[in-house]
Amino acid sequence: MQWEVLLRKHIYALGGAGLLLSVSMAAVFAQTEWTTPPDPPEFSAQSEPIFVSVSDIQEYKALPEYHEPDFVKAFVDAGELPPVAERLPKEPLVFKTGNMPDGVGVYGDTMRHVIGGRPDGWNYIGGAIQGWGGIDIGMYECLTRTGPLFQVEADELEPLPNLAKSWEWSEDGHELTMHLIEGAKWSDGEPFDADDVMFYWEDNVLDSNVAPTGGATPEGFGEGTTLEKIDAYTIKWTFKEVRPTQYLYAMAYGSFCPGPSHLLKPEHPKYNPDNTYEDYKNAFTPEFLNFPVMGAWVPVEYRPDDVIVLRRNPYYWKVDEAGNQLPYLNEVSYRLSTWSDRDVQTVAGTADFSNLEQPENFVESLRRSAEDSAPARLQFGARTIGYSLYPNLSGNGWGEPNELSQAIRDLNRNLDFRKAVTYALDRQSLGESLVKGPFTTPYPGGLYAGTSFYDKDSTAYFPHSMETAKDYLAKAGLEDTDGNGVVNFPEGVAGGQDVQVTMLVNADYTTDKSLAEGVQAQMEQLGIRVVLDTVSGNALAEYQQGGKFDWAVLRNGSDLVSVVQGTSGLAPVGPRTAFSHRAGTDGTLDLMPFEQEMVDTINQFIASSDNAERAELMKKYQQLYTQNLYGIGLTQYPGALLINKRFDNIPAGAPIFQFNWAEDNIIRERVFVPAEDQSNYELHPNTLPNTPGVGNGPISK
Ligand code: GLA
Repeated sequence: MQWEVLLRKHIYALGGAGLLLSVSMAAVFAQTEWTTPPDPPEFSAQSEPIFVSVSDIQEYKALPEYHEPDFVKAFVDAGELPPVAERLPKEPLVFKTGNMPDGVGVYGDTMRHVIGGRPDGWNYIGGAIQGWGGIDIGMYECLTRTGPLFQVEADELEPLPNLAKSWEWSEDGHELTMHLIEGAKWSDGEPFDADDVMFYWEDNVLDSNVAPTGGATPEGFGEGTTLEKIDAYTIKWTFKEVRPTQYLYAMAYGSFCPGPSHLLKPEHPKYNPDNTYEDYKNAFTPEFLNFPVMGAWVPVEYRPDDVIVLRRNPYYWKVDEAGNQLPYLNEVSYRLSTWSDRDVQTVAGTADFSNLEQPENFVESLRRSAEDSAPARLQFGARTIGYSLYPNLSGNGWGEPNELSQAIRDLNRNLDFRKAVTYALDRQSLGESLVKGPFTTPYPGGLYAGTSFYDKDSTAYFPHSMETAKDYLAKAGLEDTDGNGVVNFPEGVAGGQDVQVTMLVNADYTTDKSLAEGVQAQMEQLGIRVVLDTVSGNALAEYQQGGKFDWAVLRNGSDLVSVVQGTSGLAPVGPRTAFSHRAGTDGTLDLMPFEQEMVDTINQFIASSDNAERAELMKKYQQLYTQNLYGIGLTQYPGALLINKRFDNIPAGAPIFQFNWAEDNIIRERVFVPAEDQSNYELHPNTLPNTPGVGNGPISK
């Protein structure tokens, strides 16, 4: 079946088409060199959020009574667990029924995930990776929360309170006092308080030897920003800027999610001279079970290349309005397989959740999901998945390049060279090589078409032209002097050898590899040899952060979608904030003039609370980015959320990727399975973390 038929059939099955992505009028720059980008083909997002205020979603208050699943009550009755009211904070976070699509839920069942990543440990704040796909999102809670903001009215947009239940600004706007939830406990029953927050800030974010997994850096919170503890449940931020509400987004996933200081502090080199920073990062391997979390589920079983199982946290601090302690789901599991298998299994019904994000799987998934008997519902959102080619822009030693790589870096810093590359790219065919149909659209780079700060007239698009590309290559001083089809460096540079670029690629995704191979083939036509450095999962992060690449093909983060989240990642505002340009060996950033302008624009954006001014600043940013080819866009396309039909409370219009991934957007702790639809898929029914007989055993190291 053709995609047109499938899509129509599928939309019909869902009850009609929804919002069309907005399409602005074509306009042409005064300059002849570039144009505005082509309009994306029309594509209907299949469901729209119901827009609400933050206060419609949640509040903090004590309720007259609390409830828990019967099997948990049995642990209380046996004297193995304190009563539920004593396990909850003074004022739990209460999710309001009015914002729950199917209302108050019932306990039971499990959500079976499949992931392509692998865990290397639980110390998230110390730099360990859990394998992605929502494991860390379900384990670690953060001061604020942004995933559910896709449903919040634009003029009321502000991160949701989370571990910080409220905050107020001082009159001069330099100080922000935050109140933490009071009396909440880690999943092992130890108190959560400001000491956990201060340990995260002082010994992880501010300690440049630690690279927290979420990418937190001091600059992400503003230069010169300080944080202090006022008392056990009060902390105070002091900013150089006036009322920089922007940083509330940096306090969400993944840059301000404190870890259990009672376990981590004794492993940190500052407090444990026997430990190196590597020891600290690896202090809690995946085999260490029952790692204390503030999230809804606690790891209780790990089998390498097989599965990770997490059971409900008996100390979880969120409830519904009827006083039922959350989560409703007793368990979540993660099969350790591949990202593609996540789609296949969810479509087939042997798994429950997938972000359908690899276009190679779209047609088959649509075909199966359109059938009445399909186990999973599939809903496409907006075009928020995009890939770029990032030239490494450091000229002063980041990643310690050899002679050839240094010569490539010098080329990367030459605009004529970047223009040659962009003109040589045929984005239309790159997109079509992934999937035919209205899904992909050529992506110039920078902010995505269809997102709120995007302005087409500020976007420079270099249309495909191999001839122009070759002219620019010559202008950059490159010529094929030995007639082997690959251009050479000029005499005296890297021995006049062939221009050979090493391009970093994520080995875990089919899409990443397809795109990289497409780029490689198109560069070959231009006369540049691209060697793929295809690296898997956790090592990739190290290569990337370590600057060990000439070019990298990467899936972009949420900063380019939302702008307000991860804003400091949009330009090299600090020594360690940017993807493709970090400080060199001497600790300085050798910014080019346009990069300095980008940095200034981003800093002004962060300091401004004037919406009109912010919109203008983002236009300027987009011009600087796309005209100078800071990153070279490849393709942009929508993703679809695939969830087994037995789950309720899945919010309408939940995108797979906006402020965060869908694993956070759908608010998993509120998701439930109606009694009549419950499965028997729980792997460890009737068990709790920290109790004997669960998974590989009780707490161990
Ligand atoms: C990976 C997956 C995404 C999403 C995130 C969550 O990156 O590719 O779809 O599940 O993990 O962190």
